[in-house]
Amino acid sequence: MKKNNRYLSAMVLISLFVLPSSFAFANGSSLPSTDAGEVYNYLTKESPYQTWSLFPGTQKMYKGQSPHGALITTYVSADVKQAIETGKGKLPDGGFIVKENYMPDGTLDAITIMYRVKGYNPDGGDWFWAKYGSGGRVDAAGKEAMCVGCHAAVKDNDWVFVGPIK
Ligand code: HEC
Repeated sequence: MKKNNRYLSAMVLISLFVLPSSFAFANGSSLPSTDAGEVYNYLTKESPYQTWSLFPGTQKMYKGQSPHGALITTYVSADVKQAIETGKGKLPDGGFIVKENYMPDGTLDAITIMYRVKGYNPDGGDWFWAKYGSGGRVDAAGKEAMCVGCHAAVKDNDWVFVGPIK
């Protein structure tokens, strides 16, 4: 009897600690906060963006416009892809757009991202903006006025230039 009790409490303890973390894994990793390093880690290690889909209607290494790369590859998280394809009209909270900016010779120069975080910055479409150089060096991050200012031109397309989101 006593042994059984001990076994039971051990099982309870184990389920308390093990189950919640396995649920978190089953769900994919949990989303990062608005910390540039945490976001980079998420995009390169926990949910590597290069395994995601390309922005609907785009190909790898399409020709970009100033101020971004000469050649561009743009990835979207699965929820963003779905929202675009089903014409939701607005991209989801927790969604990502990750853009690789290449130099004319095909060398990767920088990664620029938009990450939608509910309530983060209503004046800027609730997008968290970041620009990373090689090895994850943070060149810009947060409610960047420069990014917000230019992308405001396409506010009606949820602040996205590359293609229609509805
Ligand atoms: C002067 C205008 C301008 C500024 C400033 C700017 N962008 Fe962009 N951005 C564009 C254009 C135009 C595109 C469309 C892709 C292309 O052809 O370059 C784009 C595309 C993007 C995309 C792909 C999704 C989309 O909107 O098409 C991301 C992500 C992005 N920019 C992030 C950023 C970040 C982060 C910053 C600030 C560090 C920034 N941008 C600053 C003009 C700008």
